[in-house]
Amino acid sequence: VSPSKSFGERFPALVTGFFFFMWYFLNVIFNILNKKVYNYFPYPYFVSVVHLLVGVGYCLVCWAVGLPKRAPLNKELLGLLTPVAFCHALGHVMSNVSFAAVAVSFTHTIKALEPFFNAAASQFILGHQIPLSLWLSLAPVVIGVSMASLTELSFNWTGFISAMISNIAFTYRSIYSKKAMTGMDSTNVYAYISIIALLFCLPPAILIEGPQLMQHGFSEAIAKVGLVKFLSDLFWIGMFYHLYNQVAANTLERVAPLTHAVGNVLKRVFVIGFSIVVFGNKISTQTGIGTAIAIAGVAIYSLIKANMEEQKRKAAAVAS
Ligand code: 3PG
Repeated sequence: VSPSKSFGERFPALVTGFFFFMWYFLNVIFNILNKKVYNYFPYPYFVSVVHLLVGVGYCLVCWAVGLPKRAPLNKELLGLLTPVAFCHALGHVMSNVSFAAVAVSFTHTIKALEPFFNAAASQFILGHQIPLSLWLSLAPVVIGVSMASLTELSFNWTGFISAMISNIAFTYRSIYSKKAMTGMDSTNVYAYISIIALLFCLPPAILIEGPQLMQHGFSEAIAKVGLVKFLSDLFWIGMFYHLYNQVAANTLERVAPLTHAVGNVLKRVFVIGFSIVVFGNKISTQTGIGTAIAIAGVAIYSLIKANMEEQKRKAAAVAS
């Protein structure tokens, strides 16, 4: 072992494991704090702006001290990143509309369908042929989410439909991200995406929630928890939101997209578990079973897909 090698070069798996751990940890805390805020301040469009605003502030400070050094942006890069940022903004706001409307565990159960939307997009938008076996492996996911939804105690259509829209938006985000392989490092890319996404989130927040916020939204929240707690809650959910997304982007740089997608589903298992414990949400037996079937289905789907990709790789290696 050469002494000049860094820790990361010597133990890459350990470092990648640490990235996954941090991603999950930050995400679980974010989800819990975020829902606590919605319980006394139900304004998801405004809160979505705050998440991005705190993140952008953090990025500007990081750039100012050169950690990381700001990567230059030109018109072409801006053109590539803007659609990614738009989908990021839409998916973000819609996830939050859902978080505010239903139990966190339910939003994440619906969001576990994201690989299903990715598969559909890859067949019907990108024209890649998806084998029948892969489609069939997604059946338990759809059945599980349907079972869970039918008896979900916190169910309402706003929460369900907005989480579904966020699945569509995040699927488009991954399509555009592939087209936007810029060679820029993931931390800089995520910083630019946050800035552009913030600009997209501002107008709907002002139009949809502005009047209510001014009339009673802010004053009621401050009356309930006090100004200091209100501001510090908003600050911390913004920090955790930014950091978990930045770590998620850094993790994607280290692993294959499929590993990342599986990791994202596993993340939801932790969030669902922790949020049920923390908020003491009652879930019906059918919802519990449906959620478990859906998550097991995603795991099976991912295994089959990973196998297929491995075979494709082997066939390509033999052919060359
Ligand atoms: C958000 O606030 O944008 C959501 O937490 C996104 O959820 P995800 O990163 O778990 O898909």
